[in-house]
Amino acid sequence: MADPLDILREKARQASIRAYAPYSRQATGAALLLSDGYWVAGVRTESVSYSLVIPALVAACVTAVSVGRTDAVAVALSRAIRPEDASYMRETPFGSFEQTGVDAFIRSESLPAPERRLDPLLASPEAISPEIAIPLVRLVARRAFAHDSQFLVGCILKTQQGELIPGVNVEHIDWSRTLCAERSALAAAIGYGADAITDVYVSCLKDPDGAPCGACRQLLVELTPTATIWLDRGSAPPERTTPALLLPGAFRGKGLGIS
Ligand code: THU
Repeated sequence: MADPLDILREKARQASIRAYAPYSRQATGAALLLSDGYWVAGVRTESVSYSLVIPALVAACVTAVSVGRTDAVAVALSRAIRPEDASYMRETPFGSFEQTGVDAFIRSESLPAPERRLDPLLASPEAISPEIAIPLVRLVARRAFAHDSQFLVGCILKTQQGELIPGVNVEHIDWSRTLCAERSALAAAIGYGADAITDVYVSCLKDPDGAPCGACRQLLVELTPTATIWLDRGSAPPERTTPALLLPGAFRGKGLGIS
């Protein structure tokens, strides 16, 4: 029988094709194995503001948490592991991982064979309206991994085809590597290979003024420029806005190469 890790390595290489890496051209993919043999893809998702890049490994981890799975047992990368990958994997929502070989981490000795890709999609009624999406995104927020802040944020991206992609905030012991719900959902969408995003639903029940942070606004401008954004704070009907309204004068990196 083939080594589960070798199969996972191959999945990571296949996932890398979907990376959004127009600036570095270093398309990286990750495949995160769950305890039942499902696996989750993650891809490098770059921003014109380089420091906002979402590494493939982080993308795979936050996608799993966003679909409600915290039982990861291994992960493989499409390239050799770097020190920053190892430090991220030492403390995850799934526990602590150890490096094995040059391109993988495990947290269990016995691994199931990677069988099926778990797509980050919510079951959705045929026609999704804000009235339907807001209760759904509130439920998604409960999956947040927010041990430090206890501040649960949920996001749902709706694609042109009507698919719903969830995202939650995933905190890390190194706060600079915490990822917000909006960017988790965007990473999941890119890793899944979603088509254009038409609507972004964000829910934060704890904050009556809740709104995407600056980093999320930048990524929303870059990756969902024409979307309608719906902000739910619990009581009132959601506020309706757009990426351009949230971040006028955004950095677009003209002259960087692809803009
Ligand atoms: N957070 C989000 O998920 N989205 C935002 O736009 C603002 C902040 C999360 C990140 C962190 O887990 C917690 O809220 C506190 O900043």
